[in-house]
Amino acid sequence: MANNDTRPIGIFDSGVGGLSVLREIRALLPDETLIYCADSGHAPYGDKPQQVIRERSLELAEFLVRHDVKALVIACNTATAAAGRALRERWPSLPVIGMEPAVKPATAATRSGTVGVLATVGTLSSAQFAALLDNFGHDVRVVTQPGVGLVEAVERGELSADGTRHMLEAHLKPLLAAGADVIVLGCTHYVFLRELVESIVGPQVKVIDTGAAVARQLARKLDEKGHRAPAGEAKPVRFWCSGNPGSVAHAIDVLWGEHIWPDALPRSQVITPHTR
Ligand code: DGL
Repeated sequence: MANNDTRPIGIFDSGVGGLSVLREIRALLPDETLIYCADSGHAPYGDKPQQVIRERSLELAEFLVRHDVKALVIACNTATAAAGRALRERWPSLPVIGMEPAVKPATAATRSGTVGVLATVGTLSSAQFAALLDNFGHDVRVVTQPGVGLVEAVERGELSADGTRHMLEAHLKPLLAAGADVIVLGCTHYVFLRELVESIVGPQVKVIDTGAAVARQLARKLDEKGHRAPAGEAKPVRFWCSGNPGSVAHAIDVLWGEHIWPDALPRSQVITPHTR
């Protein structure tokens, strides 16, 4: 197919954290029409069983596929670990772009030889993360820390509140004490706390995430298939959410900078065969 594919790209996350990926996609692919689903009514995913996250992810993906998306972006490390494979199996011809903590670039960037990874319990305890450490965690020491409570703070739009800072200080302390000079933000929500993280860790410590790399990977996939939209085709991002649209609208306001009232996702009605 030539590069005149006006179908939208579907992006989802457990909540509003994926907006940090959405903004990278918007910046790199300004002509593409984007649909974003925030599963805020079920956030956080990080402390839920993988099976539950898989079911939610399949349901959100199903919703996006019904909107005729040409590619799917899992803007969530936790959901990628739990459901990436299931989504690819379900829609084998649809490009599905997932994400994982930036351990590989972190190992290249460290000078102290110690890398700190801040991510959800779900991500850190996943087989995918274990495989990532197997592949890239040999020559450096990788210390991990679950960012308990941070997703909820970002969902509330509390990016600089005292409570958020105190939680972050507590989470970063063991990573710094271990000598980490690179901190990986392994959850898309945490990217919105980057400034706060940088103010705590100081200029000697590098803070990295994978949002821009995900956008580049999406662009590559679209190019491979000749599925780019023609110039000037983009429409405003369409937002859908579960949970309380008022709270999500507040978070979108803070994180995305626009007053947008998201549409409500249909209630769970998709029974998928993945539980077999
Ligand atoms: N934003 C998600 C991630 O990248 C998950 C947050 C959560 O719901 O726990 O891991």
